[in-house]
Amino acid sequence: MKVEFEKKAIEDVSADAVVLPCMKKRVPSWVLEELKEAGVEDDFDGSKETAYLLPVPKKPYKRIMLIGIGDEKKGKLEDFRLAGGRAQKAASKGGLKSCALWINEQMDLPTGKAVQAFVEGFLLRGLKLDIYKTEEKNEKKEVEKLVVVSEEDFSRFVKEAVVLAESQNYVRRLDLEPSNVLTPQKMADEALVLAKKHGMDCRVYSLGELEQKGMGGIISVGKGSAKPPVLVRMAYNEGKDLPHIALVGKAVTFDSGGISLKPGKGMASMKYDKSGALVLMGVMRALAELRAPVKATLVFGAVENMPDGNATNPGDVVKSFSGKTIEIINTDAEGRVCLADAVAYAATKKPELIMDVATLTGAANIVLGKQGICMMGTEQGVLDLFEKCGNETYERVWPLPTWEEYSDMIKSDIADVKNLGSEQGEAGTITAGMFIKEFTSGLPWVHLDIASVDLMENPNAYLPKGPSARGVRLITSFVREWAQKRGK
Ligand code: BES
Ligand code: ZN
Ligand code: ZN
Repeated sequence: MKVEFEKKAIEDVSADAVVLPCMKKRVPSWVLEELKEAGVEDDFDGSKETAYLLPVPKKPYKRIMLIGIGDEKKGKLEDFRLAGGRAQKAASKGGLKSCALWINEQMDLPTGKAVQAFVEGFLLRGLKLDIYKTEEKNEKKEVEKLVVVSEEDFSRFVKEAVVLAESQNYVRRLDLEPSNVLTPQKMADEALVLAKKHGMDCRVYSLGELEQKGMGGIISVGKGSAKPPVLVRMAYNEGKDLPHIALVGKAVTFDSGGISLKPGKGMASMKYDKSGALVLMGVMRALAELRAPVKATLVFGAVENMPDGNATNPGDVVKSFSGKTIEIINTDAEGRVCLADAVAYAATKKPELIMDVATLTGAANIVLGKQGICMMGTEQGVLDLFEKCGNETYERVWPLPTWEEYSDMIKSDIADVKNLGSEQGEAGTITAGMFIKEFTSGLPWVHLDIASVDLMENPNAYLPKGPSARGVRLITSFVREWAQKRGK
């Protein structure tokens, strides 16, 4: 879908409909007059959940779509994102090919940001998810164009919305791919394509090279699969003198649990265990498109976790890239074992901050449910900035403690560390994070466990059921602000 900004008056718009987000009890008087003139009776009051499509035959735009935003006193940007989602749904249902957005609300929120949030919601809701359906049920009803119209220049906000939403959709689209399609090697291929498109460097290391490097963690997780693991390193602004961040993602293309096999129920959703790395690919895409002045290195080990005669057994000990030995207590705690190697490798590039993003623990869903991302880290300033960016993007985070007693829980009797804190699952999300911290070489570190938010089970108006790619907007916004603060 094309999105454009046009600086002009509402009277000059020609489109299938003008889309007007309105606050409760604040429908502009000219709209009420137009509706009256067209003989349309309406009881629209701007309350949330409403999206009305009303004909105004005498106008160059043939219809007005009124979208309720809700109460102005409680108004937040997320209301505009949700409204964008509702508008997309109503527009495609109504067979509209082109829409013109006009936001002219007087409220405490900055209008440019409201425009951005609305366009984000509109684009996110527009992604088709039934990618493997062979039968086209209805003729295609897709909105082809959204024009943002205003007498004030909002082009910067429109561009940001397009980059962010398209990056998020890029991730959602790839996350949908099943493990027989998006194999570890295919993930690496996708990374190469992305890097080439955006002028970034990208290197893929084969199993043989992983062996040479001594990446015993990633190798041990991939041993049960017929599809060999690979390591990917992508770099944006390589070699430039800019603040340098390392982004490390979990990329398990399918997590059966390995020998510590998962129950069958719900196992199909373990194809989404690659979301962390994909979200970071989306972030790299967004940073490149926005030409963000930051140096970013993405690292992930793509791997499939399967049971097999050759698979790693509980009780096995492996040597990681850092030299530390790991006792594998449970082969289903595989994400941290892969991240151990990837994080230690990223640390050799001497970044100023290492961030890892992973669908790491089912327990994250017990801690915060679907409402937030469990965060851990070593720098208060970084955690505070994440909290701020989380509130703005509505991809919210909450910190968990890094008390050293949690590290004691992952000490092994026979090796340096073990991959399970407690058989009972006590502090499962925290001990998983503390395990990763062991491999950061003491560099500033922040960790996001996205296991409870990567899939929409309770859809909202702009993200239907399916992969959410939540984290893309949050992390992109964090990296930009972090780099700006550190600016050299
Ligand atoms: N990929 C899972 C975590 C997960 C669970 C993500 C549910 C999304 C939804 C991870 O590899 C895993 O299996 N973790 C185990 C850890 C346990 C063995 C300590 C878990 O959460 O049960
Ligand atoms: Zn697992
Ligand atoms: Zn996993």
